[in-house]
Amino acid sequence: MTSPLIVVTGAAGQLGQTISRLWSESPLPQYQFKALDRSELDLSQLESAIAVLAELKPSVIVNAAAYTQVDKAESDSIAAHLVNAEAVGRIAAWSAENDARLIHVSTDFVFDGTSKTPYEPDQQTNPLGTYGASKLAGEQQIQAMAKQHSAIIRTSWLYSEYGNNFVKAMLRLMREKEQLSVVNDQIGSPTSTHGLAVLIFAMILNRNAAGIYHWTDGGSISWFEFALEIQRQAVQEGLLSKAIPISPIPASEYLAPARRPAYSVLDRSRALADFDCPSADWKAQLNLVIKELGSK
Ligand SMILES: NC(=O)c1ccc[n+]([C@@H]2O[C@H](COP(=O)([O-])OP(=O)(O)OC[C@H]3O[C@@H](n4cnc5c(N)ncnc54)[C@H](OP(=O)(O)O)[C@@H]3O)[C@@H](O)[C@H]2O)c1
Repeated sequence: MTSPLIVVTGAAGQLGQTISRLWSESPLPQYQFKALDRSELDLSQLESAIAVLAELKPSVIVNAAAYTQVDKAESDSIAAHLVNAEAVGRIAAWSAENDARLIHVSTDFVFDGTSKTPYEPDQQTNPLGTYGASKLAGEQQIQAMAKQHSAIIRTSWLYSEYGNNFVKAMLRLMREKEQLSVVNDQIGSPTSTHGLAVLIFAMILNRNAAGIYHWTDGGSISWFEFALEIQRQAVQEGLLSKAIPISPIPASEYLAPARRPAYSVLDRSRALADFDCPSADWKAQLNLVIKELGSK
C-alpha cells in the first residue's frame, strides 16, 4: 500500500517554503509530501488545478497559495476572488467528494477592527477591503462545501526569512534611510511562519481538527512597536550597523489603496487548547527569523 499524500499549494510563498523546509522535522513520517508552486498548480486555472488533484489524489491538501497583494486587490478584484474564493470552493468540493482533508489559511482582514478585545473564531466578520472580502468568501465556500473535511486557520502579520514581508521591508529601509515613520494606531499580532507550520503539522496529525481556528504568535503591538523591536534585534545580531530614528504616525498619514483594520488581534485559545503547538511570544519568534536572516 502506498503512503497517503499531503499536497501543499503555493510552494514558493512564505508559508509554502517554511512548510517544505520544516517537513523533514514534522511528526508525519507516514505521509508522502509534495509542495506545488504556481507553475504546477495554478489556482486561476480552475479545471487544470482540479485535474492536478485528481491525478495526485492527496489525502490532505494544505492551501498556502493565495492572492496576497492587499492594495493591488482593490483594482484587481476579479483575480483576487478567482484565487481566494472560487478556486478555494472548487478545492473544497473536490476534498469533500474524494474524502480528502483541506487545511486552509485565512486572514485577520476578515474583521473590521472595531473590536476592543481579541477576535474569537465565531465573531462577526466584516472585511474592509477586497482582499479580506475575497478571503472571507473562500472561507464561506469551504464551510458550505466541505465543513466536515476542513479546517481554516486565520492568521495575521505573517513574516519569515522568505519572500516579501514587513520584517524584511523594515530591514531594507533601515539600511537605506536616515529615518523612518511607521503607523502606530493599527494593533495586531506578528506571526512567524515557523509556528504556523508547526500548528499545521499538528492539525494534520489530529484528524479531529475542523472548523475555524485563530493562530498568531503571543502578544499584540502596533506596527511602530514592531519596527522598533526589529531594529533593536537586528542591531544586536549585527544585521544593521546602527539604529536610525523611527517616529510613530497615524494610519491616516500612510496613504494606501486598501483600508486595514485598526485592531485585528486574534484570540488563539481554541488552537492552544486543541493542539500541541508553540505558544512562544512574538519577540522570541522574531529573534529566530532575525538570526536566520543574519546567517545568510
Ligand atoms: N502575509 C501576511 O501578512 C498574511 C496575513 C494573514 C494571512 N495570510 C494568509 O496566509 C497564507 C500564506 O501567505 P504568505 O504570506 O505565505 O503568502 P505569499 O508569500 O504571498 O505566498 C502566496 C503564494 O501563493 C501563490 N499564488 C498566487 N496566486 C496563485 C495562483 N493563481 N495559483 C497558485 N499559486 C498562487 C504565489 O505564487 P508566486 O510565488 O508565483 O507569486 C505565492 O507563492 C495566505 O492564505 C494569506 O492569505 C497572510
